Amino acid sequence: MPSIKAAILGFGTVGEGVYRILQEKREEIKKSTGFTVDVVSILVKDKAKNRMPVTGAKFTDDIQDVLNNPEIDIVFEAIVGEEPAYTYLSDAIEKGCHIITANKMMFAKHGPALLKHAEFRNVKVGFEATTAGGVPIIRTVTNLLAGDRVKRIQGILNGTSNFILTKMREEGSSFELALKDAQQNGYAEADPTDDVNGTDAFRKLMILSSLAFGQQPDWEDVPVVGIDHLESNDLLDASKDDLRYRHVADIWKDEKGKLQATVGPVLIGDSHPLFGIDGVDNAIIVNTEYLGSLTLIGPGAGMYPTGSAMVADLLHIIRQHELKPVMVTN
Ligand SMILES: NC(=O)c1ccc[n+]([C@@H]2O[C@H](COP(=O)([O-])OP(=O)(O)OC[C@H]3O[C@@H](n4cnc5c(N)ncnc54)[C@H](OP(=O)(O)O)[C@@H]3O)[C@@H](O)[C@H]2O)c1
Repeated sequence: MPSIKAAILGFGTVGEGVYRILQEKREEIKKSTGFTVDVVSILVKDKAKNRMPVTGAKFTDDIQDVLNNPEIDIVFEAIVGEEPAYTYLSDAIEKGCHIITANKMMFAKHGPALLKHAEFRNVKVGFEATTAGGVPIIRTVTNLLAGDRVKRIQGILNGTSNFILTKMREEGSSFELALKDAQQNGYAEADPTDDVNGTDAFRKLMILSSLAFGQQPDWEDVPVVGIDHLESNDLLDASKDDLRYRHVADIWKDEKGKLQATVGPVLIGDSHPLFGIDGVDNAIIVNTEYLGSLTLIGPGAGMYPTGSAMVADLLHIIRQHELKPVMVTN
């Protein structure tokens, strides 16, 4: 049975999710693709940390253990921040590895360069998990672009903000209390700044922009507003008029063909597709020339939704026969 050797960079919520799914679905993946997928190396920051037991993989805190292993076909990246993630993935591409990332902070800025580099090296880049977690928006837009043209993308791209707005509206909670609730439920980061000030949604919008329009607007030209200034009374007043606040990231081409984008809370009525999206879900409306309007809704984060998006990227790469596996006998 041919075997694909994988490394996972980062073994927190997402990296562990990828590992678990690859183990749990090992037989199914084997049956459907003809390949076994073996995780041989896991990069972490702190090797001494207590972790779930793994079989067949070695933990390391030295990226060279991954990059110098000629067996590795594919690198999953689930660490936090622009660097060293970008450098690690560039080096992995240079070594001829396919890469799959969940790192939106890194990919919003360096995605175009990684894609160019990967094309030059004839390897693939999976980035479904960078945007809206388990919602297959990247694959959907990619498929649509084959015979259609995207005119506008609008979405709730940050589940934490949406959860907080829902709590404030339904229970009259203050922003602070709703945020605490989100943290207690494991929806918000320990440092939730980027979630509630709009930066996280902005980054995902920029990733979608590159994909759908082949370019990003100048980042300084995009107004980015969070939900941290809203008070529960604002939401309750809106409800009286049958309106709801949603934190919406929006990008479109104006009549002159210039990209326009905004990120911030907007008031919407009950005929809008985002009106009924409550809790931690993400939702994205894609408007195209031929299809019209399509809305995708689903979990935007979490171990299994995000991990499964990365494994789906892997299966896609395998099915394109882009991997050159090492033949093993078993
Ligand atoms: N959580 C989600 O639901 C979600 C959804 C979509 C996308 N993402 C993105 O996925 C990535 C991972 O998120 P997460 O929630 O899994 O984070 P996390 O739980 O904090 O895990 C991060 C992992 O990366 C490792 N790490 C951090 N810096 C490193 C470095 N310099 N070198 C090697 N390893 C390093 C950490 O090692 P130690 O374990 O030793 O500390 C840890 O295992 C982030 O970019 C995030 O934005 C997350």
